[in-house]
Amino acid sequence: MSIQNVAVIGSGTMGNGITHVFALYDYTVQLVDISDNIIQKSINIISKNLDRQIGKNIIDETKKKSALNNIKAVVGIEKINYDTDLIVEAVSENKELKLSIFNKLDDIIKPESIFATNTSSISITELAVKRPEKFIGMHFMNPVPVMKLVEVIKGYSTSLETFDKIVRLVKNLDKVPVLVNDFPGFVSNRVLIPMINEAIFALHEGVADKEAIDTVMKLGMNHPMGPLQLADFIGLDICLDIMNVIYTGYNDSKYRPCPLLKKMVAANKLGRKTGEGFYKY
Ligand code: NAI
Repeated sequence: MSIQNVAVIGSGTMGNGITHVFALYDYTVQLVDISDNIIQKSINIISKNLDRQIGKNIIDETKKKSALNNIKAVVGIEKINYDTDLIVEAVSENKELKLSIFNKLDDIIKPESIFATNTSSISITELAVKRPEKFIGMHFMNPVPVMKLVEVIKGYSTSLETFDKIVRLVKNLDKVPVLVNDFPGFVSNRVLIPMINEAIFALHEGVADKEAIDTVMKLGMNHPMGPLQLADFIGLDICLDIMNVIYTGYNDSKYRPCPLLKKMVAANKLGRKTGEGFYKY
């Protein structure tokens, strides 16, 4: 069975980016969310992002039209086609919500289809309660139409056949799949978030001020953005949640979240989304 018919569940930041890419590469995509209003807003964002690609001469008007034609709005997971080859779940980062969705889908979708999750921190193995051999992590990066990497995460029981199919699919989307095993934070967040946490410790302990810390990492390590600026961009609440997943997942004090990070989240200084984090917006 080759993958042609995809359903992306959740049309938020990640869901609309993932849908954009599948539609552009001629897959049929059912874009699923809880209301038509939310889905239409997401399709408008996709349309604007396609325009941006036209402006950069990456695609033309005909390609945009065919991409939008490949997207079908679906309200509620019950309405997803039985014949769907692949589910890519991108709903909010909540384990119970994700589990309940896969539970229901198992009764609705043909048994051969693959279940993938875009979770950034929840264990793939713990989510793979239904059809564990056909369950896999597909961790796209934000913004999806721009970023090349997809971490392909094997759960404990993910079959080689499932893994191979997803690797081929990711290459067909002109992205680069990287094999990762199922451990807290995978690779991307295991390395990135503790680095951000360490930068916050450096600020907390008075090693340097925030501009100095960001400048060292930008000019000294060639990072496009300093770690504190990046934390504001990601959201300090998200950084804290992921840090806690890694800390409890490994039971290792080296991953303890910095007290300053906890305090800022408690004060609702979450970064760009609340207008203030380490910097003001
Ligand atoms: P978001 O909050 O922007 O979007 C979530 C969407 O899911 C919303 O549109 C919501 O209405 C929808 N939803 C909730 N319950 C639903 C249900 N029962 N049926 C259908 N749709 C439902 O979230 P975002 O940022 O797109 O994150 C989605 C997933 O991707 C999370 O697991 C997150 O950890 C992961 N992720 C996020 C990244 C980011 O930079 N935002 C990067 C990589 C992964």
